[in-house]
Amino acid sequence: QHVHFAESTFQTGSPNLVAQIERLEKLFTIETPKLKEITDHFVNELTRGLSVEGGTIPMNPTWVMSFPNGYETGTFLALDMGGTNLRVCEITLTEQKSEFDIIQSKYRMPEELKTGDADELWDYIADCLHQFIDTHHGDNEKLEKLPLGFTFSYPATQDYIDSGVLQRWTKGFDIDGVEGQNVVPMFEAALKRRGVPIKLAALINDTTGTLIASAYTDTKMKIGCIFGTGCNAAYMEDCGSIPKLAHMNLPPDTPMAINCEWGAFDNEHKVLPITPYDKTIDELSPRPGQQAFEKMIAGLYLGELFRLVLVDLHQNKDVHIFAGQDVSRLMKPYSLDSSFLSAIEEDSFENLAETLDLFQSKLALSPSHQELELIRRTAELIGTRAARLSACGVAAISKKKGYKTCHVGADGSVFNKYPHFKARGAQALREILDWPEKKNPDEEDPIEILAAEDGSGVGAALIAALTLKRVKEGNL
Ligand code: GLC
Repeated sequence: QHVHFAESTFQTGSPNLVAQIERLEKLFTIETPKLKEITDHFVNELTRGLSVEGGTIPMNPTWVMSFPNGYETGTFLALDMGGTNLRVCEITLTEQKSEFDIIQSKYRMPEELKTGDADELWDYIADCLHQFIDTHHGDNEKLEKLPLGFTFSYPATQDYIDSGVLQRWTKGFDIDGVEGQNVVPMFEAALKRRGVPIKLAALINDTTGTLIASAYTDTKMKIGCIFGTGCNAAYMEDCGSIPKLAHMNLPPDTPMAINCEWGAFDNEHKVLPITPYDKTIDELSPRPGQQAFEKMIAGLYLGELFRLVLVDLHQNKDVHIFAGQDVSRLMKPYSLDSSFLSAIEEDSFENLAETLDLFQSKLALSPSHQELELIRRTAELIGTRAARLSACGVAAISKKKGYKTCHVGADGSVFNKYPHFKARGAQALREILDWPEKKNPDEEDPIEILAAEDGSGVGAALIAALTLKRVKEGNL
């Protein structure tokens, strides 16, 4: 029972090219039994991550300890430091149930900052906040009272909600002197240097924000996912199932949002079908050996995987694609992002005219029709593998928690913009969880992955609100 997304097929082509396509199909296709095997291992890893000994994935407790009820109110600032942009928002949770107002500004995260100096990073962030306030606020007095939710989307160990020791940089960041440190004092010092009178109320992960923001408007939401530059999920666990928090003596039925940091799944290479291209991505990344799962799924890597395949087939003497052409642009690492792949998958494969255009304008290459077909098939294989693998994570959390039906809130550029990502993910969930075929196409799946509310904005505000409420009530 496979759904075919009108995948391209090859009748023509030199035997060598066809052989290469078959090789790629073998490498990148993950059949149902393998998906199930990955999911089962994933369930074990979720549990192991919560144990005292720990496992491969961090399973970080976030100190977000309730779902919103929709009646939270107040005005908050939210700062979102994702992988690609920096965003500052002011959010007002209104008296109307589940309603909010938002003002926001987006700033580009300069590429150099990602591998630069820690102070430069914090100063840049403080400057953006400063600028936002200058534009939207004359009134400093009011400002001092606005609690800030800081969405810092990297793995952090939190003993409190307003602190976080960076475990390691992910998503291509590599800034010395931050790993192993609490990022909050560094951030606050920069605010002080810049004279920004703001107080941090909560440090949060984008997945936790997504979970909480989605649950604000839809109580069936049980899991929050990001499929963007990085890939990760959060869900609500019971403290009684978190042995590594046993020393806190929290009541066993107290909820605790867990940021899984599932990007690190299978760093030990026990189940994931790694291709030579995945190996290259890993070896040339700033953190080899880490984020094995993320490197096969996340937007940061999809274009690069695709580029590596094409470079390989250019260098392969039997096929030698783009023969006689200047491949210098293609040779540049990370020169293609996932939007390039999206555009290829969106093209009608009758003549692949858009794809040809893209190759000519971006890479100064003019592929033959056969090469265009190969290009299209390669994009499909990489995009499909990413969607199917991500379904394993969703299925694993659902299995661990015993969720037979629920909603999953998802955000991020890959989820929102990559063609067929949702449908391919849904199809894989169906295969993993053995759901019967739908009787009519409009029927909901038992577990539906849906577009989430804005986690790093509204979610951060809600978490700040929930935290202040908890503090006021004297709970932790
Ligand atoms: C990376 C980060 C994680 C984040 C995800 C999505 O995996 O480590 O914290 O949630 O990217 O942005």
